[in-house]
Formats: sequence, C-alpha cells, structure tokens
Amino acid sequence: MRYFITIFLFISIALVSILGFRGSKSRKPPLEIFPDMDRQYKFLPQTANPHFSDGRADRPVVPGSVEFGSYVRDEFYNTGKIRGQFGHGFPSPIYVNREFMDLGQKKYNITCAVCHGQTGDGNGITKSYGMVATPTYHDDRMRKMTNGEIFDTISNGKNNMGAYKSKLSIKERWAVMTYLRALQRAHNPKPDDISSEKRMELGL
Ligand code: HEC
Repeated sequence: MRYFITIFLFISIALVSILGFRGSKSRKPPLEIFPDMDRQYKFLPQTANPHFSDGRADRPVVPGSVEFGSYVRDEFYNTGKIRGQFGHGFPSPIYVNREFMDLGQKKYNITCAVCHGQTGDGNGITKSYGMVATPTYHDDRMRKMTNGEIFDTISNGKNNMGAYKSKLSIKERWAVMTYLRALQRAHNPKPDDISSEKRMELGL
C-alpha cells in the first residue's frame, strides 16, 4: 500500500507537470521562474514620451540614415538585373528629377570622387597614393555598359573597388549611377544637349 501511494503520487505529479492544466484559462500571470526580460521599462510605439519636446515616443528618421529592410519586390530595382541579366533603363520605383540628381551628385562626391575624380576621369586623389588602376568613365566600354551593371558594380564592387551596398541605400545607388551617366554625357555632349541660342553663339 505504501508503494502504491508513492507511485500514485509520482505518476500524478508527472502527469500534471507534463500535461499541465491544458485548456483551463487563468487570469493570474503564470509562474515565472526565468522572466527572460519579458517585462521591462520601454516606450511602446505611438505612446507618449515626456522626454521629447513634441511628447511623442516615435522619433522621426535621423537625416542621412541608410535604409535597411525597406524592401521593394522588384528584382531590377534591388539587383540591377532582369531575370538574371543586367538591365537597361530604370526600374519603376525610380523617378529621375532634379532632387534625385542632386542626391546622386552629393553621394558621388562623397563616395566615389576620391578614386574616380569629380568628373569621372579616374584621376581622384587616391591616384597619387598608388591607386593607379581606377578607370575613367569616359571610354566606349563604360558608355555602353548597362545601367544595371553599373548599379551592380556600385553594390558589390569589382576587384580593387569595394562594395557600397552597406554605405548607400538602393535609391542612393541608383542616384549615383544616374549622376555617373550625367558625367558621361557632360564629357561627350551631342549638339542637342545645348540650347539653340548657345549653339548659335558657338556656331554649331
Ligand atoms: C577606393 C577607390 C574606389 C572608389 C571609392 C570607387 N571606385 Fe569604382 N573602381 C575602382 C577601381 C580600382 C576600379 C577598377 C576595377 C577593376 O575592374 O579592376 C573601379 C571600377 C569601377 C567601374 C567599372 C567597373 C567595370 O566593370 O569595369 C565603375 C562603373 C565604378 N568603378 C563606379 C564607381 C562608383 C559609382 C563609385 C562610388 C559609389 C566608385 N566606383 C567608388 C576604384 C574605386
């Protein structure tokens, strides 16, 4: 009988601890042996925070932040490729206007000009420090290169050139690519790029 009670108790405890009070609802918080930082002081989204002058817990994005994780489902936009091939033209999320070109110019001058030079001739300051292999953008091969391939070079680098995908957002990389096109065009203008008055003035 003594054994029976011991075994019965043991089995009951084992059953209860394995199966627990399944299905029964309780309003009491569960017993917490390891709290795992479940409860902590924090400001939830869209609540008040007296620390800031506008009283809001949500803060605006710091200017100049590089976006990560804002994902657009567009292969061309994300990789410069269309079904695995470098694409021509622009992906649909890109809209080229003055502001976009200004962004490209700014980021180009910060990120690329040290090696490729402000005009893209490959004569940046690093040339005098031994980085002699930096190419110019102003030759036929570069002019014919697709937008997608240039975007890919900026994103992933090439040989001695590092990758810039951790420094520039996708949009910024497209903007730099577009500014690179503007540099190429400025270096190799067509008569149509000049206004008719200017053309008259130059006798073209
Ligand atoms: C540290 C110096 C350095 C910086 C900074 C740099 N590049 Fe380069 N870049 C190079 C070198 C060196 C090569 C030649 C790589 C090769 O083909 O061996 C190159 C090659 C290229 C090419 C040609 C790739 C090809 O297929 O031949 C492009 C386009 C280019 N860079 C664009 C950029 C842009 C845009 C930036 C700024 C986001 C940039 N680079 C920043 C050094 C640099």
